[in-house]
Amino acid sequence: MRIYKVGGAVRDRLLGIPVTDIDRVVVGATTEEMLAKGFRPVGADFPVFLHPKTGEEYALARTERKSGRGYGGFTFHASPEVTLEEDLIRRDLTINAMAEDDQQNLTDPYHGQRDLKARLLRHVSPAFAEDPLRVLRVARFAARYAEIGFTVAPETLELMRQLSESGELEALTAERSWKEISRALMENQPQVFVEVLRACGALKVLMPEIDALFGVPQPEAHHPEIDTGAHTLSVLEQAARHQQPLTVRWACLLHDLGKGLTPEEEWPRHIAHEFKGLKLIKAVNERFKAPRDCQELALLVGEYHTHGHRALELKPSTLLELLQSFDVYRRPQRFEEFIAACEMDARGRKGLEDRHYPQADYLRGAATAARGVAVQPLLEKGFKGPALGEAIKRERLKALKAYKEAASA
Ligand code: CTP
Repeated sequence: MRIYKVGGAVRDRLLGIPVTDIDRVVVGATTEEMLAKGFRPVGADFPVFLHPKTGEEYALARTERKSGRGYGGFTFHASPEVTLEEDLIRRDLTINAMAEDDQQNLTDPYHGQRDLKARLLRHVSPAFAEDPLRVLRVARFAARYAEIGFTVAPETLELMRQLSESGELEALTAERSWKEISRALMENQPQVFVEVLRACGALKVLMPEIDALFGVPQPEAHHPEIDTGAHTLSVLEQAARHQQPLTVRWACLLHDLGKGLTPEEEWPRHIAHEFKGLKLIKAVNERFKAPRDCQELALLVGEYHTHGHRALELKPSTLLELLQSFDVYRRPQRFEEFIAACEMDARGRKGLEDRHYPQADYLRGAATAARGVAVQPLLEKGFKGPALGEAIKRERLKALKAYKEAASA
């Protein structure tokens, strides 16, 4: 049996990027031989094994044929006769279809090295189209490697367009899509993920609510970039630049969906877009079964981001309502993430990327003031049940009034 490193490990070594996860392909072996060597099989009908000591993945060289819609619709053929070249040709991109033996001898039948040099994400063969998830994968790799100059080859973008138009993307499961989306959002240039999906028509299929934002104007006085889609991309870009967590990035992506619903006659104003957008945010959340913390933050940021921007003008009672909506007393971290998303929104405007955002500290101070209200003295005064709740609220309101006065003094 011959063993080769394949995929990302070879690609990233050649790019001089640290390799985190090593996949190997085994040529000339049977399942029985692998089991006899102590390898542990990963799945019942998938010829992939884990190394008995390192736990790394070893897959038998295989060919694949698509036999139906979606991801379940694959038949594999793994046997000792399958060659390395046959295994590599079924892979997605030329830069992912290189193999390397122990001595770092490279097998590169589909010119991955050439495309690494040319900084091109190019599909290996028409078999690319057999797994529609690859449309998202390519967009994710584009987001990761944009900063070192990679772009999608025009013929690959064309294939991605055909796949997007074919209806195949609709067969993707929420889980597989979310895995790609969440990884892409955590890349250095997550806005490139959205741009590439848009360029091949996949955005219209996967997230029409975001696609609809392109071409929708906003008032130039607040938004020098004007276009709502361009603004959304900039907000995402800022979120990555400021190393925000996934929850914040997801909320940034979805915060302005309501602007896509504004009737044209009202442009460039977007009255009540925060509220109108909630049903769209909910739909996207559910479509991809986003984790609960991402779903929650996206909805809260959607509803309250303009409150964040107007923080210094809010009445103490409105501030209190905002803090209560976030349950800031039990969930302080979530309020911090809300503040971060508001700040990214403010920074995601052309020419205003580095402008100070005093609302952030103001909101933090308000949360601290409200949280500083002690319950014990109220209990000692004999308050209980709903009356205690009311008394706490009154005290918090008092604290916020004092805070606002002190801040404006
Ligand atoms: N692969 C593929 N099509 C897919 C998934 C994977 O062709 N839908 C192949 C590619 O050759 C890829 C390899 O399997 O390089 C390993 O896949 P994976 O571990 O998902 O990705 P990596 O390329 O290792 O990239 P990453 O750094 O994102 O893990």
